[in-house]
Amino acid sequence: MTDARPIGIFDSGVGGLTVVGKIQELLPNEDLIYFGDTARVPYGTKSEETVTKFSVENIEFLMTHNVKLVIVACNTASSLSLDFLKRCFRVPIIGVIEPGAREAVSVTRNNRIGVIGTNATISSGAYEKAIKRLNPRYSVFPQACPLFVPLVEEGWADNKVTKAVTEIYLEPVRKRSVDTLILGCTHYPILKKILGRVMGKDVVLVDSAREVAKEAREILDAGGLLNGSKSKGKHRFFVSDEPNRFVRIGERFLNRRIDCAKRAV
Ligand code: DGL
Repeated sequence: MTDARPIGIFDSGVGGLTVVGKIQELLPNEDLIYFGDTARVPYGTKSEETVTKFSVENIEFLMTHNVKLVIVACNTASSLSLDFLKRCFRVPIIGVIEPGAREAVSVTRNNRIGVIGTNATISSGAYEKAIKRLNPRYSVFPQACPLFVPLVEEGWADNKVTKAVTEIYLEPVRKRSVDTLILGCTHYPILKKILGRVMGKDVVLVDSAREVAKEAREILDAGGLLNGSKSKGKHRFFVSDEPNRFVRIGERFLNRRIDCAKRAV
């Protein structure tokens, strides 16, 4: 059995393109519909109620494109709203928290895991809960890094301001001798170089995007929902505000050209 319907992915903005990149690698024949809620970004400073309301609307939009699976690429929306979204919709929905937690638990050797993310993700304790569900003996050290998102969007992934900010944010986590750091925000994989330098080479940086793509492949495979086509999948991008900024920054995230993004509303 095969299914030619697209996969739907949403994020608060451009950051979820880090997940699109991995889906493209692992599921090259799948069509994708991406929705970036650029009119209402950031989610990382907003309440659960607001983020859940936005997330419901984002999935309703994706459903108008008849998607067969929804990926909540945004860590904040996954942290605050995933359970509610799964109860609301019949389409399979996956978030980024469980896959990231699973990967961290599988790589840590000293059972000490750091987690960085937006204020909302960190205050929700979502990663901590997911890790403790897998193994209650693991120690988790969370740290909100709210300045990282604007720094990445500014294109300052590797300069001295970002390095100084990174050193300040990560100091408390470093002191806890973690050997694994979860990059719990869509934007942080872009900072891998600087994060690696500041944390040191013995610390493994976990980016959940690859695990999410693997989980998507498993779900589609198990449900007979993989696209049987031999040709490369088509990717369509939609945003809730003017598309130019999304395209400009998005090309950096995706490392390829984005031919067109459309305003959805
Ligand atoms: N996409 C968000 C996340 O992964 C970061 C940007 C925002 O705050 O909306 O948490």
